Amino acid sequence: MNEFTIFLLALIIMAAIFSHLRAGRFKRMAESITLKCDTAMASALSAKKSLLETMNSISMPCLVVDGQGKVTFANRAMEISSGFQGMSGRNYLEFIKEPGFIRALQDIRRHGKPLDTEISLWRKVFLVSFSIFGDTGNILVSLRDVTAEKEVEKIKKELVTNMSHELKTPLTAIKGYGETLRDEVTGEPRKYLDVILKHADRLISIVNDILSLSGLEETKPELVPVDISDLIRETSSLFSEKMKKRKIELILDLDESNRIVPGDRFKMEELFINLIDNAVRYTDEGNISIRSFLKDDLLNVTIRDTGIGIPERSLPRIFERFYVVDKSRSRETGGTGLGLSIVKHIMMLHKGNIEISSRLGSGTEILLKFPLHS
Ligand SMILES: Nc1ncnc2c1ncn2[C@@H]1O[C@H](COP(=O)(O)OP(=O)(O)O)[C@@H](O)[C@H]1O
Ligand SMILES: [Mg+2]
Repeated sequence: MNEFTIFLLALIIMAAIFSHLRAGRFKRMAESITLKCDTAMASALSAKKSLLETMNSISMPCLVVDGQGKVTFANRAMEISSGFQGMSGRNYLEFIKEPGFIRALQDIRRHGKPLDTEISLWRKVFLVSFSIFGDTGNILVSLRDVTAEKEVEKIKKELVTNMSHELKTPLTAIKGYGETLRDEVTGEPRKYLDVILKHADRLISIVNDILSLSGLEETKPELVPVDISDLIRETSSLFSEKMKKRKIELILDLDESNRIVPGDRFKMEELFINLIDNAVRYTDEGNISIRSFLKDDLLNVTIRDTGIGIPERSLPRIFERFYVVDKSRSRETGGTGLGLSIVKHIMMLHKGNIEISSRLGSGTEILLKFPLHS
């Protein structure tokens, strides 16, 4: 064995020892990685399990729908409410066929904005919230059962409507006999009678507004072509005397080529009477301008006044029943606080939209948007 052979042998032995050592290190590394993976997997599984348990213990029905309409998750409350088992993995249309729900899902996919809407499902009424999350187009749908609240609301409304019907006859009698008596008396008694009659008129207005509102809720109007320009001219002319007396100028700027919308003429008359009445009632000087124009395939109508305006804090409540900004002014001018609720309802029946903007001391603008096709 010469020196070179010894050197070669030593080299081979060293390489074998080194590779053995390396193999051992790699093995340990591989084992440690496997352990870490196992731990991560176990904690992910445990997190998933606890998330599922949490979602299942929520009493609110929840559902996740993916971009293709497949249910990727439905909690226990959802399966109990709907009466369907094993919703996950199936298309939501197998369980929910309500057009309002389908429309809301399409809307949120198109606009991406969270959406809350009331929908009747499985013989119950739900307030349904839709929100999109992640970049996969998953939509979380959560439902709040408001059936009982709706029922109480319905009973309350029925009570008020029935009372209003009952009040109509005695009020008409009070007004009729009061007017007859007023012609017979003079002096102090006449003054008292005037006060009685003023209050009787106010009660009659409230009763009529309540009945009008409940009538709007009960009936679905049949929409026929209505000429909005004509209607605005006719209804605004009813106020010309009042405006003349108060030196308020009326400015009409109506689009004569786009004027026909599907509507209920009588209800639309009621709508414009209420809005023009408000503009006149809450304007001391200046003008009222009514404009119509086509925008985004909708017929827009604006009614703008230079009146007292509405404080910003009151705007969110302005369409509520009986809400008035200044009770004494509204009462003084014979208001009931029901006009704008009626208007909002009429717009809903026409599948239209109403917006209000106002600045205290400088005026108010109402924007109505009517669809051109039913
Ligand atoms: N054009 C307007 N200018 C100023 N305030 C208005 C106008 N329209 C409505 N309001 C305010 O909104 C309240 C509610 O309006 P509405 O429902 O028509 O009731 P009202 O019977 O009092 O007119 C009014 O009492 C008034 O405070
Ligand atoms: Mg009014």
